[in-house]
Amino acid sequence: MHTDWTDELMQDHARIERALIMIERQIERKDGYDAATVSALLEFLFEYGERYHNQKEEQFLFPLLGERGIPTHGGPIAVMLSEHEMEKNYLIRLIRETQQIKEKETAITEDYRNALVSYISLTKDHIWKENDILYPMGRRVLQKQDNSHLLASFENLLSTMPYQGKGFVERWETLLHTIEQSTGGPIDLLKTLDTNTLRAMLDVLPIELTFVDANDVVRYFNKVNDKKIFPRTLSVVGRSVQQCHPPHSVHIVNRILNEMKSGKRDAAHFWIPFGENREMFLYISYYAVRDEHGNYLGCVEMNQDVAPYRALQGESRTLNDLV
Ligand SMILES: [Fe+2]
Repeated sequence: MHTDWTDELMQDHARIERALIMIERQIERKDGYDAATVSALLEFLFEYGERYHNQKEEQFLFPLLGERGIPTHGGPIAVMLSEHEMEKNYLIRLIRETQQIKEKETAITEDYRNALVSYISLTKDHIWKENDILYPMGRRVLQKQDNSHLLASFENLLSTMPYQGKGFVERWETLLHTIEQSTGGPIDLLKTLDTNTLRAMLDVLPIELTFVDANDVVRYFNKVNDKKIFPRTLSVVGRSVQQCHPPHSVHIVNRILNEMKSGKRDAAHFWIPFGENREMFLYISYYAVRDEHGNYLGCVEMNQDVAPYRALQGESRTLNDLV
């Protein structure tokens, strides 16, 4: 249950984007496009995207924005409405043509592929405009009671959908998950980055990270060649974490790891003044790393000098303040 109307609409967008990416995967597949999968995804986009999500906007959000001063004729709302109409027309055509491809088992034509690509780019662009322009605009003009009014209206609409309302969201979420699992798993953005980029990204952060695996063996730390608060050298890799801590603290380490493995604990935090003149204030955190099924993969330790953050006052909103 959402407490903010933008969270709910943006979660819908995230589901819609997952379906769009899975259709893209299908048209890029070398071993052939699967009409049954695309057909199910287009059905989701019509039933969930058009009949549910877009209706939340058309029936409740847009009129309310109009009442709060955003013009409904001309301006951003008119653009959104005309894009909804274009999306709907594309979907009606694509659902019909995909059904024909499925029944006749024919290859996809250039024309059909172009229509799919245009529909996907229109919808992605539309989602970006709503997430980044229209919703923030809405947040500025809507009043406090509008949030609960919108959430209640969305809930009402859901209760009129098939599968007894709540089952509607569950049904489509299950479909998306199942297709993701059977066509290469959920979208993994890390796969689009090489390890050089990933390493540089982890090294540039003002934190020290160490990862120990499920057998308590040190496998990774960032800033390998940089000066660190807690110096580490490559010789720690492959050693057990218990061998890397002073004997008086090993029992704490063991307790944290055992509690993480048993599922009793997800994180542990410590903070201590540090440095020759106690000029640093260290915040040391341990986080359990688990896979999507909750299986324990290891523990990441994060060390950070938070003294500069503790000293912050007032606010900084312009780039000049950072110089
Ligand atoms: Fe939307």
